[in-house]
Formats: sequence, structure tokens, C-alpha cells
Amino acid sequence: MLNALVIYFSPGGNTKRAAEALARGLERGGAEVTLMPLAQAQEVDDTSYDLVCFGAPSYHFNVPEPVLHYVKKRLNKAAVRLGAPVQPYKWAVVLITYGGPHTGIDEATPAGDHLAQMFRHLGYEVRGIWYTVGAFHGDRAEANNLYGWLGDIRGRPNEHDLGVIETNAAGLAFVLSHLKNQQAQR
Ligand SMILES: Cc1cc2nc3c(=O)[nH]c(=O)nc-3n(C[C@H](O)[C@H](O)[C@H](O)COP(=O)(O)O)c2cc1C
Repeated sequence: MLNALVIYFSPGGNTKRAAEALARGLERGGAEVTLMPLAQAQEVDDTSYDLVCFGAPSYHFNVPEPVLHYVKKRLNKAAVRLGAPVQPYKWAVVLITYGGPHTGIDEATPAGDHLAQMFRHLGYEVRGIWYTVGAFHGDRAEANNLYGWLGDIRGRPNEHDLGVIETNAAGLAFVLSHLKNQQAQR
């Protein structure tokens, strides 16, 4: 059975909902899933999983400080090898939520690339960097959620957004389970 770990950082709850949809989809696709917030994941050994997923919001067009800190710590712990040789049958997915008020998805791709680089340095094959719109929270959110680059993003991620993540995750788990079974039969 495909063994998946889903870690998320989500001060406002959008990324948590997106990560939960991802976890639901992976389960639907046949994976055994462990879902946890970043605070709990610090000492977890992610190398025992076939698939590791990391969800984070974009803050100032990068990952937030606690995620940056985690990336540095994780890379130090691994003693990254020159050339970052690929570890066969180790996969990763990055999930980013963002509001895109100024330049749209371009505000999210540096965050996605940053986390993907962590996984590639560790030798994981990155199977996807998934982006989902997430509304701003709090008193000053209204302008950002109505008049930003993407227009009206209130209530995002909505049921449709979460459904897309869930469907994509189910498909991914199905394919990776198949690859894992093929490996086992060799
Ligand atoms: C301090 C802060 C900075 C943000 N900076 C950006 C940004 O640069 N680009 C962007 O697209 N969204 C930005 N956002 C919006 C968040 O990425 C978006 O609302 C995200 O879904 C929040 O996720 P969460 O609810 O899991 O915390 C920012 C939000 C906050 C609170």
C-alpha cells in the first residue's frame, strides 16, 4: 500500500482545508495517509514514506518564515549529496495557497519552487506543484479579496477548488500505488 505523509502550515486555515482535501483524495486513490501540521512534523522521519506532500501559503511571494526554517533544518539533517541523486520510488507533491492580489499566480510560484527545490535536493521526484487560491483573512482582507489581480476570491478555496485537489490526489495515489506494486514484483 502507498504510504503518504501530508504536512501543512496554515495560520488562517485555507492551506489546512486544501491539505485535508489532498489527504482525502490520496485515501480515495488507495493510499494510507498521515496528515499533520508543521508543528507536529518537526521530528517526524519523512524518509519512511513513499510520498511526502507539503502544503504552505505564499507570504510576500515566498513560503512563510516557519516553513523556511523547516527547509533549512531538513536540508542540514539530510547532508545533501552533490548532484542530488534521485532516490527511486520517493515522491513529493507541493501544495501552495495564495491570494495573488498584485500579480496573480506569479506571487505563488516562488513559494512552490522553493519547496520543490527542498524535495529535489533530497532526491525526491516532485510529481506536482499544485496552486490553489486562498482568500485573505481579517479586517483588512476585503479589498484584497475583491479588487486584486484575480478579482473576487471570497470564500476560496471553495468546494470546487477542494474537489479539484481531491480528484488530482486520487489519480496520483492510484498511479503511484501501481508503480510501487510493479517495483515489488521485480
Ligand atoms: C502576511 C501575509 C502575507 C501574504 N502574502 C501574499 C503574497 O505575497 N502573495 C499572495 O498571493 N498571497 C499572499 N497572502 C495570502 C495568503 O497566501 C492566502 O490567503 C493563503 O491562502 C493563506 O493561507 P492560510 O489560511 O493557510 O494561512 C498573504 C497572507 C498573509 C497573511
